[in-house]
Amino acid sequence: LAEIDVDVSQVAEGQSITAKWRGKPIFIRHRTAQEVEEAKSVNLDDLKDPVARNANLPADAPATDANRATGGGAQPSGGEGAAAADGMSPAREQWLIMVGVCTHLGCIPLGTSGDYDGWFCPCHGSHYDTAGRIRQGPAPENMAIPPYAFTTDTNIRIG
Ligand code: FES
Repeated sequence: LAEIDVDVSQVAEGQSITAKWRGKPIFIRHRTAQEVEEAKSVNLDDLKDPVARNANLPADAPATDANRATGGGAQPSGGEGAAAADGMSPAREQWLIMVGVCTHLGCIPLGTSGDYDGWFCPCHGSHYDTAGRIRQGPAPENMAIPPYAFTTDTNIRIG
């Protein structure tokens, strides 16, 4: 399927689900406020891969937390009066949607683990942070953000 719709209404803060898109696992994590803060507090100079790897943004967009946790496309028109025009409303930054494939050799990393409280790939020891950015180990790139958009407050369209 080129596009899938995922209902995230039942995914509480601190929980994740995995969807499948084009044969790949898609991690959808409802991050805790602490995880978001942790990701925001990282100095960009400390990142191994400085670009966002976000299909919704230009290829050279820096790997800030905001650039990792943003989708593209139309934002929902109703029901969220305070949504920012650019789609980066505070109500969205808790959602991290990414291709759950290690950028080293393609294993599937484990969630809420590793030295940076994000994901850990047990195949060869790559550690990703709470924004899915590679921080330590052999993986060369941040985990990829697929094309996606919220079509309602609780529905994500991936693809
Ligand atoms: Fe993940 Fe090698 S495949 S560290």
